[in-house]
Amino acid sequence: MKSEKMSIDSQIKIFRILFVSSISLTLIWLMVTLAISSKSRPVKISVWQGIEGHKKVEALDTRNRKHLKSMLRCKDSDLKMEILFRGDHWILQNMISGLRSRKMGCAEAITFVTVADFSYLMHLETLVERWMGPISLALFAPGDDFYATMNAIQYARLCLPISKLVRDYVTFHIYFPSGHLPVDGIPRTPLEALKWPANCSEPYAPYENVRRRDLYWHGLQLGLPINLGRNVARRSINTHYALVADIELYPSKDFIPQFFDMISRNTSLVTSKNRHVFAVPAFDLDHHAMVPDTKEDLMTMYNMGMAMEMHHRSCSYCQLIPEEQKWLE
Ligand SMILES: *[C@@H]1O[C@H](CO)[C@@H](O)[C@H](O)[C@H]1NC(C)=O
Ligand SMILES: *[C@@H]1O[C@H](CO)[C@@H](O)[C@H](O)[C@H]1NC(C)=O
Repeated sequence: MKSEKMSIDSQIKIFRILFVSSISLTLIWLMVTLAISSKSRPVKISVWQGIEGHKKVEALDTRNRKHLKSMLRCKDSDLKMEILFRGDHWILQNMISGLRSRKMGCAEAITFVTVADFSYLMHLETLVERWMGPISLALFAPGDDFYATMNAIQYARLCLPISKLVRDYVTFHIYFPSGHLPVDGIPRTPLEALKWPANCSEPYAPYENVRRRDLYWHGLQLGLPINLGRNVARRSINTHYALVADIELYPSKDFIPQFFDMISRNTSLVTSKNRHVFAVPAFDLDHHAMVPDTKEDLMTMYNMGMAMEMHHRSCSYCQLIPEEQKWLE
């Protein structure tokens, strides 16, 4: 118990640091992908070198996907809403599921797994466009934050130019401690959640210009239980591979097809006896900089000093990249 508490605290610290420095956009070039099966096997870590240049990789065709599915021995499944009680928290798991994510084959995509409060939802616009795959997002929403969170979710789903992508791909879970219930009730079915009204004529999205001190959880100094939220988001996915990352870490374009291209070329990455974790370097960008699309663009920025290893300034050893020199060459 004690050690879990400590690790939650340290996670929160990291989260806060990220928030404070969120003016500098952070880009994850290629991230951590984790095989979830066979938990008892040892873990092998590889650093994905990425694909050179602007080479376009096609998605796996049906035959290759079937082959991969049989190698991974994964099963397709649906995303159903469940109301759960865990560790003194209520969890509305799969409260609203992505229309396409719900039907995603287990070997068809990678799920981006992340956790936040509603004030981070502005990142969703960029994230969903770059990822183009399922996103499993747990939102911490105690007390009155619950209603602001529902407004923010519906705004993102209905009022933006990219709202169709949000409806297709993003699965929302909400969780809150039992001591801080939303007093005016909660939706109990996906249908009730989907009926939540959005006001698209508001001049600002509900997640823009949110001051920290106006957040219910922040005002009461509840602390954001990140590990719990991440587990909620992680547990309720229907793809074999998950990429666990922060919501403000933007993936490189074509991440998913490039990843499947890599493992379909080297099946030992799939069939080996070890579980495989793929580590992905992350970079902080100068806040004026455009987010690069390719590794080449990123390297140009890196050499000009406009991109650096994540947390390079605040804590250079926190995010050491294995085989960094090889990756940067
Ligand atoms: C929606 O927002 C606009 C602009 O703030 C406001 O005038 C309008 O009354 C709101 N509509 C509802 C139904 O709340
Ligand atoms: C395939 O992956 C394994 C495990 O990471 C590695 O040792 C091997 O060199 C790779 N083979 C090719 C052809 O890339």
